[in-house]
Amino acid sequence: MTVRQNLSYCRIMNPVSILDRLPRKFVPRPDRSLGSLLDGLPRELLSIYLAPTRFVPSKTTPGLEQLPHEPCPAPANAVRYWLDLPGFIDRLEALGDRFVVTMPGSGAWVGLTAPDDIEKVFRADTEALYFGEALRMLSPHELVLGPTNLTALDGPEHLATRRLLLPAFHGEALKSYEATIEQKAREAAADWPIGGPTPAIAETSKVTLEVIMAAVFGVTEPERLERLRDAVLELVDELGSRRFLLETAIATARRDGFSRPFPRIEERKAAVDAIVLEEIAERRAGGGQATHDDVLGKLLAVRDERGEGLGDPELCDQMRLMLIGGTDTTATTIAWALDLITHNPRVLRELTRSVTAGDDAYLTAVVQETLRMRPAFPFTVRLTKQPLELDGLTIPEGTIVAPFITLVHRQPDIYPDPLEFRPERFVGTRPGTYSWIPFGGGMRRCIGASMAQLEATVVLRTLIEELDLQPAVDESAPIGRHSVIAVPNNGAPVVATRRPPAGSPEAGSGVR
Ligand code: HEM
Repeated sequence: MTVRQNLSYCRIMNPVSILDRLPRKFVPRPDRSLGSLLDGLPRELLSIYLAPTRFVPSKTTPGLEQLPHEPCPAPANAVRYWLDLPGFIDRLEALGDRFVVTMPGSGAWVGLTAPDDIEKVFRADTEALYFGEALRMLSPHELVLGPTNLTALDGPEHLATRRLLLPAFHGEALKSYEATIEQKAREAAADWPIGGPTPAIAETSKVTLEVIMAAVFGVTEPERLERLRDAVLELVDELGSRRFLLETAIATARRDGFSRPFPRIEERKAAVDAIVLEEIAERRAGGGQATHDDVLGKLLAVRDERGEGLGDPELCDQMRLMLIGGTDTTATTIAWALDLITHNPRVLRELTRSVTAGDDAYLTAVVQETLRMRPAFPFTVRLTKQPLELDGLTIPEGTIVAPFITLVHRQPDIYPDPLEFRPERFVGTRPGTYSWIPFGGGMRRCIGASMAQLEATVVLRTLIEELDLQPAVDESAPIGRHSVIAVPNNGAPVVATRRPPAGSPEAGSGVR
């Protein structure tokens, strides 16, 4: 692997400590303080964000006066969210089950954390709450992922497209990806750096990207695979860049619906699409699309009730969505699992014992408990298209409703000692539909949830079988933020040694 590829893998997550380990001349220094962030901001942005008229006291939110309000104005909330995610979440936790927090460009959000309220949101009529329109108010995601990507659609259009995509992520289809995931996991374990501290996130980002390229895109031609990897990393790099953050902040403040172009994103998107289109053209020409055991092959084969398949632009949008939505999220989850496991020797011992005995129940619980304690997304959102009735509260039309995933998972009456990593909670019990929501819920529940859990399980099992992993630092990683994902701020460094091959006299029971 080239230095550039290595750097790009690291920058997928951009944690400060990974960058610290790399030669300075290659690495743009990340911002660590409010001061340094403000230093580089264009005047235009400062004047929009800091204009006194923006400091509307949030207590005046009409129709929501009875709820506790986060007293800080929208710009301060945005700054805290971007620079101090744990602090932002802690402040909101103190407000209780329902609260109001204002954010730039989208006004008052109603935050919800009680499972009864979450159930009403996830079970609401698909015409009553919109996810796509909510995302469009908050970020330029449609610009990046394309107008026909599943997350951008709402109502009947969303349901019809979701129906076409779902079979590629369930049942038999899922089983067909398992061998590919296993193979990529073995390669990752074999390539894992032995000795000195290694940021787990850099390694898990590699393996999840390889899995997506193989199981979703199915590109096997080595030269095309290489070009796709480069193009994807360039796009992901740009999305994690400070420039993109600033452009997004300016566009949010302008409230122009992210209608102005982001030229660098357009350019990098086009580079990815060109390679995906090559693959599609080759498969269409060969007529052999259905024979490919990958998501692209399955999507090329789908037909709606009129017998029509997905067009090329639509296929490109869905493929880009899988790539961006399915890589960082899963890589972060596996890195968090390694961070939490290695800082809990009792869990590590039990996991090693059960994996060695061929029993996956504890491993599954480890993945579920990781997703409880460290969900990749701290919250999800919906926009009310009509008043939403909760028990004793009517949320007005046009409001962002935000199920706060992290806070739902921290409730002591559902999860005793919620800040403790205890996979036992989930052994022999199914997580609650509305109290364990790392993948959201209802008709918008993450389409890749089963695939992500399968991938996390297979990769962790393989790493535990092949490596002895220890933490490189005393404390579990602080929570940082990259793009909209909650990441281990120090990259989750671990120290690995190779286990002796199974069956050899040194292998013993595998339990240390
Ligand atoms: C641990 C990994 C992952 C996490 C934590 C995660 C989380 C989420 C969340 C919270 C949502 C929004 C759901 C809602 O608001 O109800 C979502 C949507 C989505 N995710 Fe994931 N995701 C992960 C992996 C994946 C993978 C691997 C793929 C595909 C390859 C994927 C594809 C999607 C798609 C297509 C949607 C939109 C669904 C819709 O709008 O109907 N995700 N994900």
